[in-house]
Amino acid sequence: MKKIIITGGCGYIGSFVCNKFLKKNFKVFVVDNNSKGKVFINHKNIKYFNFNFGNKNKIINLINKNKIENFIHLAAFIDSAESVTKPKLYMRNNYKLTKKILVELSATTIRRFLFASTAAIYGSSNRKKISEKSQKAPKSPYGISKLKSEIIIEKILKNTKINYTILRLFNVAGANPEFKLGPYNSKYNHIFNKLIRNNKFKIYGTNYNTFDGTTVRDYVHPDDVAESFYKSYQFMLKNNKNEIFNCGSGKAFSVKNILDNFVRFIDYKIEIFNEKRRPGDPSYILSNNKKIKKKLKMKFKKSNIENIILGLISWKKLNINKISGKSKDIIVKLN
Ligand SMILES: NC(=O)c1ccc[n+]([C@@H]2O[C@H](COP(=O)([O-])OP(=O)(O)OC[C@H]3O[C@@H](n4cnc5c(N)ncnc54)[C@H](O)[C@@H]3O)[C@@H](O)[C@H]2O)c1
Repeated sequence: MKKIIITGGCGYIGSFVCNKFLKKNFKVFVVDNNSKGKVFINHKNIKYFNFNFGNKNKIINLINKNKIENFIHLAAFIDSAESVTKPKLYMRNNYKLTKKILVELSATTIRRFLFASTAAIYGSSNRKKISEKSQKAPKSPYGISKLKSEIIIEKILKNTKINYTILRLFNVAGANPEFKLGPYNSKYNHIFNKLIRNNKFKIYGTNYNTFDGTTVRDYVHPDDVAESFYKSYQFMLKNNKNEIFNCGSGKAFSVKNILDNFVRFIDYKIEIFNEKRRPGDPSYILSNNKKIKKKLKMKFKKSNIENIILGLISWKKLNINKISGKSKDIIVKLN
């Protein structure tokens, strides 16, 4: 049986990625210290290890004892606003610990390393689509910690037996009601997280240089992110190559677009407040996803706005008692 280690597997994206690899008949080893994540998929082929991924002895023992060849690194702190007030915490957890384990990997059974990076490494794009080669100008310590991680991955793994793929994820949004997976962590400031949990909504800035004055983003469904990880794994298996891909839908949605779409599907009113801009919010972030579409044949079928919104609404109905943030662990049963 093929085996994979997934750090951060109890988080939002992690739960979708675990689900994907379980469906592809992998044995999945999750390393998560549950500092943020709480989702435990219950399946005969998944095992959980509750420790900090930077604990090199534990992670190396786990890899070598089980002869694991594949590694997906998702564990990180992800709140860019928080990273401005706690830059050292972000640099340590996201970058320094990643570097610490990377230097050990070539002495293990790992042959493929996949990393969740972010569009935050680019900064803003002035209405142009961002390609993998666009300028890197992260605006937050979070973005810097991810850019530094990318650089160290390339540097350390370049001359080893390990191939790597870096996926630069754009704004991940959506749920999968069939598997009960969704954005359980109520504390994250993402637009959909707020919309599904409140009937008041603040728009931060209505005078941006965009088509309707509100900020524009590229939303990608976590099932499409999981699919991108799986296809990257297959690509590496076949080609023994290192790659970097943008992982975004390539579709531009403003805050107002999202609100207009969201209210079409609900039967209650949302009160809207126009607020000042937030510092450091780029006006426009949109991916050029030609490379991932061409090389991995990604279609981003789930990343359309109606599917994202309808999925979240149905998931909320299923899990209404669990998304308040009070619940300790969330157990999701899979067959
Ligand atoms: N959510 C997005 O829109 C988005 C966009 C771009 C990139 N990403 C990247 O995707 C990855 C996953 O993000 P997410 O949205 O699922 O976040 P999340 O907070 O839901 O999941 C992260 C998981 O990592 C775990 N973790 C954090 N530090 C750890 C450590 N030192 N040791 C062990 N476990 C640790 C947390 O407990 C949590 O379960 C991150 O690397 C993030 O930078 C996310």
